[in-house]
Formats: sequence, structure tokens, C-alpha cells
Amino acid sequence: MKNQNHTIHHQMELTTIIGQISHDIRSPLCSLRMIIHSCTEIPDTQKKSLKAVCDRISDITNNLLRYTKPDHYSDALTGKNATSPTNVAHAITEIITEKRYEYTFRDIKITPKFNPNADIFINVDSQAFKRAMSNIINNAVDACENRAGEVVVSIATLDNKVLVTIEDNGKGMPESVREKILNHTPVTFGKANGHGIGYTQICDMLAKSNGTLQIQSRQNIGTKIMLTFLKSIVY
Ligand SMILES: Nc1ncnc2c1ncn2[C@@H]1O[C@H](COP(=O)(O)OP(=O)(O)OP(=O)(O)O)[C@@H](O)[C@H]1O
Ligand SMILES: [Mg+2]
Repeated sequence: MKNQNHTIHHQMELTTIIGQISHDIRSPLCSLRMIIHSCTEIPDTQKKSLKAVCDRISDITNNLLRYTKPDHYSDALTGKNATSPTNVAHAITEIITEKRYEYTFRDIKITPKFNPNADIFINVDSQAFKRAMSNIINNAVDACENRAGEVVVSIATLDNKVLVTIEDNGKGMPESVREKILNHTPVTFGKANGHGIGYTQICDMLAKSNGTLQIQSRQNIGTKIMLTFLKSIVY
């Protein structure tokens, strides 16, 4: 009986991990397919994007390999990786590029409102940060449903803080969903294929970076997600 329980527990852990990983791999793979699909000859700029997407897939695959070791099961669930100074503008630009390919055939405009060359660093697990940005943009696009959507991403600094804002003009988030997210309770609402993994991961990533989350939303007007981090000093 004990063994059986252990096996069930083990299988549940594995299933959660596999769910998380397939969630991770979905977006970059989709982008890659789009790029390959749309290119007969690949110009340099697209080659660069293709390479960035491939790099990300390979990062995720490396993690997958690491997680197959029993000691890392719990790390896999919490996404526990080392934090290090990460250039926010570069990381977000990489994700926006990826998302533009992913949503080529959707009426969605993704607008960065920051200097892509700004040297602003935060102390974060860079892969977890990119995964978080990817999920927040996916959520924003989902919220736009069939309407023409715009997702505006901005970076601001104030004293020793860095504020990353992602704003959409989608259908808005119900207050009950907002409360659950802010109370760290996984929730999915109004989606055929939602799992509620997105904010679970975002909250873990923020906890490890001493970051904070704020959400403002108005029905049929849109949603604004604000992530705040401490600026990290790089010499
Ligand atoms: N920008 C947004 N506008 C409206 N609702 C949102 C927005 N972002 C999140 N939500 C709501 O919050 C819920 C939780 O988001 P979360 O990313 O954690 O899970 P999910 O998107 O449902 O599934 P998953 O990310 O695991 O694929 C969503 O199901 C959605 O109802
Ligand atoms: Mg999501």
C-alpha cells in the first residue's frame, strides 16, 4: 500500500512536471514552425530570430534533462534555478519577437515602449522571467479573443526599482480571478485549454526575486499587469 501510494505520488509529480514542460515548449515551437513555414530563403534578421527561438527551446530541453534526476523533481515544480543579473530589455525583446511570429495570423499588435538597448538589470532566473513574459503576453492575446488587440509592454525605473508593465485592451479579468491569482491560488477561467500554470510559475519567479505583482483590470476595457523588481547593479 505504501509503495502504491508512493508510485501514485511519483506519477503525479511526473505528470505535473511534464505538464509544465509541455507548457514551456509550446510557444517557442509554434514560433519555429511559423518561421520555417513562412521562409523560402531566410534573410539575416529572420535567421537571428530563428536562432533565438532555437536557443530557448534548447534551454528548456536542458532543463528537462536536469529534471529527470530525482533530486531535481521539486526544483522542476518550483522552477528553482539560480538567479543572476538579467538585462530586462533584451529578455523582453526576445519574447516579443517570438510572440510576433506566433501571432502572425492574429489581429494583434505587440508594442514595446522602451529602449531595446537600455542597460537595466534585475536579479532573476532569466528563463523563468522569459517564461513569465511569454505567459502574460499569451494571456493578453487570449483576452483579446476575436477583437483587434494591442498589447503594450513597457519598462520603467524609479529609484532602485524596475517596473515591467504589460497592458492589453482585452475583455478584462473578473475580480474573483484576480483575487485568486493574488492569493497564489491556481485558477483558469474562460479558456478551453487553460491550466492555471501561468500565474503559479509567475508567482514562484517573483518570490525568488523579491518581486511583486499588481493587477488592474476593467471589464471590456483591458488589463494591466505590473511586475516590480529591485534593480540589480552590474559593475
Ligand atoms: N490579461 C488578461 N485578461 C483577462 N484575463 C486574464 C488575463 N491574464 C490572465 N487572465 C485570467 O487569469 C487566468 C489565469 O491565468 P494563468 O496564466 O495562470 O492560467 P491560464 O492562462 O488559464 O492557463 P495556462 O497559463 O496554464 O495555459 C486565466 O485563465 C484568465 O481567466
Ligand atoms: Mg496563461
